[in-house]
Amino acid sequence: MRTEDPQLVRLADYRPPDFLIDRVALDIKLDQKKTRVTSRLSLRRNPIGRAGAPLLLDGDELLLLGVTLDGQPLDTSRYAVTPEKFTFAEPPEAPFELEIEIELDPSANTKLMGLYRSGSAYCTQCEAEGFRRITYFLDRPDILSVYTTRVQADRKEAPVLLSNGNPVEHGDIPNSSMHYAIWYDPFPKPCYLFALVGGDLGRIGDTFTTMSGRKVDLAIYVEHGNEPRAAYAMDALKRAMRWDETAYGREYDLDVFNIVAVSDFNMGAMENKGLNIFNDKYVLALPETATDADYAGIERVIAHEYLHNWTGNRITCRDWFQLCLKEGLTVFRDQEFTADQRSRAVQRIADVRTLRGQQFSEDAGPLAHSVRPDTYREINNFYTATVYEKGAELVRMLKVLVGEDTFARGIKLYFARCDGTAATVEDFLACFEVSSGRDLSHFALWYKQAGTPSVAIASTCDERAKTLTLEISQDTRPTPGQPDKKPLIVPLAIGLIGANGAALPLKAEVDAFDGATQSELSRGVLELTTARRHIVFREIPDRPVVSVLRGFSAPVQLVQSATDEDLVLQCACDSDRCARWQAAQSYATRLLVAAARQTPVGANQASIAAFGEALRQIVATSDDPPFTAQVLTLPSEADIAREIGENVDPDAVYLARQSLRADMGRALSRELTRLHRDLDQNAPYSPDARSAGRRALRNTALDLLAASDDAAGMRLAKAQFDAATNMTDRVAALGVLCLIEGEAREEALDDFYKRYAGDALVIDKWLTLQAIIPHAGTLDRVRRLMRSDAFSMGNPNRVRALIGAFAAGNQRQFNAPDGSGYEFIGECVLLLDPKNPQVAARLLSAFRTWRMMEPKRRRPAEATLQHIQAAQSLSPDVRDIADRSLA
Ligand code: BES
Ligand code: ZN
Repeated sequence: MRTEDPQLVRLADYRPPDFLIDRVALDIKLDQKKTRVTSRLSLRRNPIGRAGAPLLLDGDELLLLGVTLDGQPLDTSRYAVTPEKFTFAEPPEAPFELEIEIELDPSANTKLMGLYRSGSAYCTQCEAEGFRRITYFLDRPDILSVYTTRVQADRKEAPVLLSNGNPVEHGDIPNSSMHYAIWYDPFPKPCYLFALVGGDLGRIGDTFTTMSGRKVDLAIYVEHGNEPRAAYAMDALKRAMRWDETAYGREYDLDVFNIVAVSDFNMGAMENKGLNIFNDKYVLALPETATDADYAGIERVIAHEYLHNWTGNRITCRDWFQLCLKEGLTVFRDQEFTADQRSRAVQRIADVRTLRGQQFSEDAGPLAHSVRPDTYREINNFYTATVYEKGAELVRMLKVLVGEDTFARGIKLYFARCDGTAATVEDFLACFEVSSGRDLSHFALWYKQAGTPSVAIASTCDERAKTLTLEISQDTRPTPGQPDKKPLIVPLAIGLIGANGAALPLKAEVDAFDGATQSELSRGVLELTTARRHIVFREIPDRPVVSVLRGFSAPVQLVQSATDEDLVLQCACDSDRCARWQAAQSYATRLLVAAARQTPVGANQASIAAFGEALRQIVATSDDPPFTAQVLTLPSEADIAREIGENVDPDAVYLARQSLRADMGRALSRELTRLHRDLDQNAPYSPDARSAGRRALRNTALDLLAASDDAAGMRLAKAQFDAATNMTDRVAALGVLCLIEGEAREEALDDFYKRYAGDALVIDKWLTLQAIIPHAGTLDRVRRLMRSDAFSMGNPNRVRALIGAFAAGNQRQFNAPDGSGYEFIGECVLLLDPKNPQVAARLLSAFRTWRMMEPKRRRPAEATLQHIQAAQSLSPDVRDIADRSLA
């Protein structure tokens, strides 16, 4: 990173603001092309700011109409203004009111940041720095203000007028077609949580009585006609509200809670105080239109945004470097919510899969950064898997380290101490230092140091002495800007499994040099704090299998010396289901890496057979369908590629995975056929975890059967596709058909399109299934689809469903050796960047793995990145990703 870079923001440069804004009164007159925004700011000098400092307000593409100071027009000689900055060189020393009038064109806002139009509605998105596109402001999260918002619009065009907080008043404007609504939010908040919606929307309502007996009015607003599709989201909302009360003692604090679903949205959803705005993908579901995964996604995102009310809104972030403080913690909370609503083990496995697939990949490439970065050029590019997923892992790890009760006391202290403030990671950790009495400074290194530590475990057994010695070591490879890594504190949940599969008691030298502590042994959690450690376990009858990282107790890459037989035993007998799943994944990874590296196949046949037999046993004995489905799902191509680490040939990875899936399908064909037949329920669809888990296993069975036998697979999939009574089964069948070249595929695709044309969220699935077809010809298909009615470059969901899926979900064609995939994504990025830089930058981050490809692919990937870098007038978003990818 260039040091003279004017864009570069540094954590070390943080200063408290020079001014504070206690109150904000907004008056917004909505108009499609000429919206008027008047903001009255109650300003005063910050006692801890710089004396005599000028007032500098942020703007972004703003057009100023006028300014008054304490009710009097401010002479133009006293301020300077550009679309990006309002400078008031000599503001009064005493508190003052500044009223600023702006004109906006919401229809021209294609960036979907600030005030924009989605369909026929007006809506806003302000996080991270969108409020400055609505009015000049101190657009930073440590400015907390109480907002009153008056919204006015044409009564017919926008009968619904919403903003944050509680409704105060609404009415008609006499002798006009206009009406207005006034909202008041008593909780001081940063401007990124401001929201406004106006439009002609359908509504479903409900109520929730909080634990102290207050009644809250709930509403979800959707496009007219979609009301029935919002029922599940409402149900999830009520469950999330109750859960935060029972699990954390956190009660909702306003009289109303509103959710609005819009179809044009850069992200998944946004936690604006009392007025969450959602991508409609995370609200709308009916059995005929949404899959089990969609239902689970809705439940999760609804909970996530609701849970932000305490972790994000009541306690917000001092600056954007602290993003993980709200996002990591809230992801942790939404994961726990889902675990409590569904199956804890299956949820943990799914979370680990996401962490590995997304965050480990990010950590292994040029975009690696720490959970709390210390510099950024474009904050939008730091809403990453590292901040979110690894950020959640750090909270979970903290819980493992201090224990459940101490963790609960720490978080309670956090709510008590930091409520109403803009806090830092240090403030958060300090609460756990108090509750645990431990010094957490070593733990804090996890927030600063990027990269995935490798933890290696080697065990040796002394049969005569009846001891088992574990040699544990850790190592983290350099990441951009961090050449030297220090050892971290790594909690390793551990168990020993005897030859008969039973758990062995943990006994070791206690308190001796290098010994384990009594507390480590009784909790079954070893704390690795140095580069290496060895531990001697006593009274070991026979060589046991060592189960480490149970429950995935730390976000590390485990390097194990376990034999294939150990893994089979562990997969069958470990008391921890996450470890059982992990054992199967490790075994599969061994086979896949060997096959992709083309080590002689012969040597592998016995191993593959043993793996198949182990899986057969699991299938035969398991009474947990979703768990079984996870065990039967191989590591992704991206996971295998990362395991190989360098000179990756995605074709070889793909073929290795295909071939192992075919082997599995053959080895388990009787069991899979039976599962596919017996799990077929004629009961009406229900999205609950148990039913969804059965469908997951059934569809996994179908997928493996098809992998081993095209003809049989096609027959089963075709029958399932035609008979399906819900979207889960229909899409699963179509996905299988898509992998088999031929007429049947095209017929099914046409049939699906005709059936759901006009239902954009369903058609997105159709786009994605085609974008991820691993065969040659997909790029042409994607280009063709881009020209079809189903696609629009202006809608982020369409872009992600088609182009995003090709880049991130089709390893083989994106990384095609002729460079065509890279070039295509490069073109799309350049096409999209002027319209929507945020979405363009995300698309470009698919190149984060380019350096681990073999040279034949690396060259065209680099050429595309350089081509983008050389383009004129790139957005800061895309430039930042291109520069860091090439650095
Ligand atoms: N605060 C974010 C939304 C956001 C992200 C705003 C990036 C601005 C820039 C919200 O709470 C969030 O994290 N949403 C996630 C979904 C969530 C379940 C992880 C999203 O939008 O992807
Ligand atoms: Zn969030």
